[in-house]
Amino acid sequence: MADKNSKLIEKLNDILRHEWTGVAQYAQAGFLVSGLWREVYSKMFFDAAEESFKHAKLIGEKIVALGGVPTVERNAVRQTNQLEEMLEMAYAFESAAVQLYKEALELAEHDRALVVLLEDILLEEQEGVDQLAKILNKLATQQAAATKGRARTG
Ligand SMILES: [Fe+2]
Repeated sequence: MADKNSKLIEKLNDILRHEWTGVAQYAQAGFLVSGLWREVYSKMFFDAAEESFKHAKLIGEKIVALGGVPTVERNAVRQTNQLEEMLEMAYAFESAAVQLYKEALELAEHDRALVVLLEDILLEEQEGVDQLAKILNKLATQQAAATKGRARTG
């Protein structure tokens, strides 16, 4: 049981490290984004930074409740001043978050309330992935439609 708990705390700290990275990475994108789309994307990036902080807060509180110490470390921040790269990095970031929360859920099966907490956050991370996939034209239906469009006009 103790071992189970320490593995869980370790995974929650992996998540916390990821969320701290998101706070810095998204805020920097919000500062740096320039050009015609700044009005739209600066707010979107700052909202994402705040969402990362909200998740960090929930996970940090839970780590302490489980007897652990919340990390103050973060991973390397990916930086660019190009909007499309910022969005690609955001897509990669949200996808990695989905993966981390799924891994934590596997370790949390014995703790129903924690499962609910992690599932609520997982849902928000998945919404982030879906939203960015639409912005970046990553969806299979969009690709199929584009191919069909080309076939018709060509
Ligand atoms: Fe998050």
